[in-house]
Amino acid sequence: MRQFSALLQPGRIGTLQLKNRIIMSAMGTALADENGKATDRMVAYYTARAKGGAGLITPQFAAVSADSFFAYTLPLCDDKFIADWRRIGDAVHEAGAKFSIQLMHVGLLLLYSGVVPHGASILVPSMAPWMGKDKPYHELSENDIDRYLGYYIAAAARAKAAGADLIDLHACHGCLVSAFLSPLINRRTDEYGGNVENRTRFARRIVEGIRREVGQGLPLTVRINASDDIEGGLTVEEAAQQARILEAAGADAVSVSGGLEFWSTLSVPSYPYPEGPMVPMAEKIKRAVKVPVIVAGKVSAELGDKVISEGKVDFIAMGRPLLADPELPNRIREGRLDDVRRCIYCNNCLKSATDTSAGPISCSVNPFVAREAKYPFKPAAKRKKVMVAGGGLAGMEMAMYLTERGHTVSLYEKEKELGGQWNIACALPGKKGYAALTDYLKRWLEKNGVEVTLGMEVTSETVQKKKPDAVVVATGALPMGLDVPGADLPHVIQGHDFIAGKVGAKGRIVVVGGRFIGMEVAIWLKEQGKDVTIVTRAGLGEDGIKLEEFTFKTLADRIVELNIPMFLNSTVLEITEKAVVIPMKNRLFRIPADTVILSVGMRSENRLAKELEGLGIEVHSVGDCVRARDASDVSYQAAKLAATI
Ligand SMILES: Cc1cc2nc3c(=O)[nH]c(=O)nc-3n(C[C@H](O)[C@H](O)[C@H](O)COP(=O)(O)OP(=O)(O)OC[C@H]3O[C@@H](n4cnc5c(N)ncnc54)[C@H](O)[C@@H]3O)c2cc1C
Ligand SMILES: Cc1cc2nc3c(=O)[nH]c(=O)nc-3n(C[C@H](O)[C@H](O)[C@H](O)COP(=O)(O)O)c2cc1C
Ligand code: SF4
Repeated sequence: MRQFSALLQPGRIGTLQLKNRIIMSAMGTALADENGKATDRMVAYYTARAKGGAGLITPQFAAVSADSFFAYTLPLCDDKFIADWRRIGDAVHEAGAKFSIQLMHVGLLLLYSGVVPHGASILVPSMAPWMGKDKPYHELSENDIDRYLGYYIAAAARAKAAGADLIDLHACHGCLVSAFLSPLINRRTDEYGGNVENRTRFARRIVEGIRREVGQGLPLTVRINASDDIEGGLTVEEAAQQARILEAAGADAVSVSGGLEFWSTLSVPSYPYPEGPMVPMAEKIKRAVKVPVIVAGKVSAELGDKVISEGKVDFIAMGRPLLADPELPNRIREGRLDDVRRCIYCNNCLKSATDTSAGPISCSVNPFVAREAKYPFKPAAKRKKVMVAGGGLAGMEMAMYLTERGHTVSLYEKEKELGGQWNIACALPGKKGYAALTDYLKRWLEKNGVEVTLGMEVTSETVQKKKPDAVVVATGALPMGLDVPGADLPHVIQGHDFIAGKVGAKGRIVVVGGRFIGMEVAIWLKEQGKDVTIVTRAGLGEDGIKLEEFTFKTLADRIVELNIPMFLNSTVLEITEKAVVIPMKNRLFRIPADTVILSVGMRSENRLAKELEGLGIEVHSVGDCVRARDASDVSYQAAKLAATI
């Protein structure tokens, strides 16, 4: 049988025929304007995914009521928003895909956003002791429930008016409906709380109400948690019962997700998770219902094809893989697997989607997310001979984009291998999948005949000898040391060198630094049974630029689970042959240490850029050598710069 034949076969949800089994799942991308109007950028983003071959496109959630509206999202709480949704729907249709609208009231998910908008309440089914007085929680009365039910039904009527081919009810991750379904959050004692039937009543009434409103011709799916992924929360056994109730009420498919987002990281599983963590639960739910079952969460095209062919689920909901490569469905259909830009589940997109101050959503492997109109590049007005110094991500990406624009590029790397720091990242046990990015870039450079020279350090002399029209400096960053007595002792090593296998760690190990790399190294050591302690000058993950919340929580949970001792808010004063010295309440403490692993940040390596200043050569710098950040920043800066040369 042909590869991907199960995934690419047509499928049906209710009355809706889809050309394949790939659904783009809802993702809030903050691409609407501040007042909730669709932007050209938003339309281009969805059009690209529809052109890319997915059967059904679900844009970001639509708030059913004004109190659930966030700036930069597109709501459906008023008739005035119908035209904007229609605009997106028309574009998706024209590009050859079907279009669904996800209805949502944010409820407790406001906790995940971290900011409660002025005047807003956090709607909950019932109050609980953990809901502190510092936040404006509001327990829904039965009258409130009827009112919100009305909002969902009215929003569904608007979705129909906007031309949606399907309506998806958001009932997972801790939103309002999901909170009613959860035994941990819903402690009501009336007919909306208690047993499974009662807790499902609100969701059931919404499904029945929508069905009555929109008629039989418009399919309705319900996205539920198969598990809340927390002790005392919803289990898959109960979720299966809920799925049956919702099916009987009129749902045409059950879409399976999981995790209460303010406590669990399962809903958007990042790199430490195995592939398809929710597939086994979706399979159990499929056994409980007759309607199709959809599953999301780190499901690659390969896994999706397998689990559909095995009859475990019927459809795959893909989120991040279609951010990373909107053309993924077309590419696998055409057998161009090597050209797929694979999602590496780093979650940089989630960070940028939830922090709108830093610009629109960005992706480590696809700098054109939300900038679709800027791609493909325009050919360069003047073709140049460009020398790129440094073969890390920034240098490789620059070489690729400049070649695409028609320049003649030579890429130089001082080590024997391309990849730079990314190769070190890939050596971490949870990040083996990161190699997909460097593999893709290497393949591209080779296929397109880009001249690559390894083992050669570029200096100002080399540049003057080669006489290029322009130089791109992409010399990256190096790990920082600690400026304290004893930091140069032989048992003090860099985290990078340890990860890369250049040096070993023995005895009692102290990891200095509590951001991602420090946390990952400590976990790795502890999982090997080593004696490890973390010392960090701020809270875990707090020092420097804000970390992505889901990945942070996944790692922090693991540190707690492994019982790794931590000394937080502790600045190292000195390292001796036997200890790391920290202050605590006017006293000095000596933490025994036979090996000290430093993970205290990066400093830009910009010596070459400085040397080239004033030589009358066109010089550009990109990547960590400008400012050490992350792969999505590198990728975005490289594409932006390449467009200007
Ligand atoms: C352990 C680890 C984990 C990480 N995890 C993540 C993560 O999960 N998510 C994320 O987004 N980012 C992560 N990062 C950061 C990410 O790897 C970097 O932001 C990114 O790789 C920087 O790319 P770059 O090309 O700018 O720099 P580098 O990767 O530093 O590349 C610079 C290259 O230039 C070469 N070079 C230097 N000087 C010269 C010269 N004069 N001539 C020729 N070559 C030269 C160097 O040898 C090097 O190969 C991680 C980094 C590490 C070390
Ligand atoms: C940036 C971002 C925003 C998301 N917003 C939503 C949303 O509005 N509604 C929803 O049901 N799920 C949302 N999700 C979850 C995705 O729909 C999807 O279930 C999840 O990313 C796991 O699938 P994936 O591994 O294919 O990305 C979001 C995920 C991301 C990465
Ligand atoms: S930023 Fe990372 S997780 Fe998000 S889509 Fe891109 S590669 Fe995937």
